Parts: sequence; structure tokens; C-alpha cells
Amino acid sequence: MRTLGSIREFQDRPVAPDLIAHILENARFAGSGGNRQGWHVIVVESPETRAEITRISTLGFREYMAQTMAGAVPFAPADDGRWHGAIVDLDAARAVDGPSGLAASIDHAPALLVVVVDLRALAITDIDADHVSIIGGASIYPFVHNILLAARSEGLAGVLTTFACRAETEICTLLRLPMSHAVAAVIPLGYPVHQPTKLKRKAVNEIATVDHFDGPSFG
Ligand SMILES: Cc1cc2nc3c(=O)[nH]c(=O)nc-3n(C[C@H](O)[C@H](O)[C@H](O)COP(=O)(O)O)c2cc1C
Repeated sequence: MRTLGSIREFQDRPVAPDLIAHILENARFAGSGGNRQGWHVIVVESPETRAEITRISTLGFREYMAQTMAGAVPFAPADDGRWHGAIVDLDAARAVDGPSGLAASIDHAPALLVVVVDLRALAITDIDADHVSIIGGASIYPFVHNILLAARSEGLAGVLTTFACRAETEICTLLRLPMSHAVAAVIPLGYPVHQPTKLKRKAVNEIATVDHFDGPSFG
């Protein structure tokens, strides 16, 4: 866990399909609400499909960067826990060409996985909350994280990306998903050029408290 950094640069070394199968073989032991395991993995082999995923992700990346540059936390809800729209013009942001390290990682990664989920399998206990839902993702992201952990065990690395989901209809059409399914993550994988050993994370006493949210620091 302490060395599972996000990797976007890969060696020019292929990843054997058997190794991907082995990674999925381990990752599938993730938990999910009611053990319904609504996950499905698309192993992208077609260069055309990969190019389209890269293009779609790049547009999402531009939207994200425009918000960051304007000082906003991209796609984050406001104090009321709801989304009130971006503070920048997203159509204009998508039209701004520029370098995208993310696009390169998706384009050049030796392996590309797309994790999709059957929405009907999700137990979304906050489905009627007043804020954006969080619980639905809890039945799919342990599986996604397991893929990255399992890959790390095999000397591989990658990154969980979600930019492609900014163009939901387009990505779902491209991958021929039924209406009942959605994309949870696009994961480029490969042998890393550099393996990080020191990740930047908050200390335990900054993220844990006793009894209440505003209770004394724990740890
Ligand atoms: C839910 C989620 C979505 C993410 N989406 C993206 C993404 O679309 N593109 C990307 O390059 N990284 C993405 N990341 C990776 C984060 O940027 C990364 O976890 C974080 O910056 C910490 O970086 P580090 O692991 O290298 O320390 C995502 C991570 C998570 C958990």
C-alpha cells in the first residue's frame, strides 16, 4: 500500500495476457454490497478503441485542468454536498489543445483495462440522500483497487483514471455497454519506468479523531 503510487509512464515491455488474467484472478476477491460482484472488465486490445478512449479521456482531462487552473477542486460538490456546475466554461476548456501526460499513458500503456459495473448490482444506501451519492462506488472501487494492488505484486503499475466518464454516453457507446452498466475506471497498466517509494499522504492524526468528527485527534 505504501508504494502503490500512480504510474503514468511505462517501459516498452509487453504485459502477457496470462499475467492480466492472474491479476484479475486475485482482484476478484474484493468485497461488494451483498457480494453481488457487479464488475466486468474489458481488456482493450483494439488500437482504434484505445485511440478513442485516449481522445475521450483527453477532453475530460482538459475540463479538469481548466478548473484546477481557476482555483477550483474539479468536479467537487459545494458546501451543501451538491454539484452546482463548474466555475469555468467546460465547452471552451475541451477545445483547448495542449500536452496531456494522461493521454500518453493511456495511449502507450502496454495494457489497458476498463472496469465497468452493473448498476443494478449496487447497494446504494445513500441513494436518496441530499448530497451526491458516495455509497454506490463502494461496491466497485475495492475491486479496482485490488487490480492495482495485484498488479503491484507482479511488478506492474498503473493508475486509476476516470476522465473518460466525463463523456459517459460516448464511452458507453464505444464499448457497447448496456443501459444498465457504467464505466468505473480506465486503467493503463505496464512495467513502470520509475517505482515511487515515498508517497505524499496525510498523517493519521490529521485524518482520525475520537468519538466525533471534531473530537480529539487520534493516533
Ligand atoms: C477515484 C480516483 C480517480 C482518479 N482519476 C484519475 C484520472 O482520471 N487521471 C489520473 O491521471 N489520475 C487519476 N487518479 C489518480 C490520483 O491522481 C492519485 O491517486 C493521487 O494523485 C495520488 O497520487 P500518487 O499515488 O502518485 O501519490 C485517480 C485516483 C482515484 C482514487
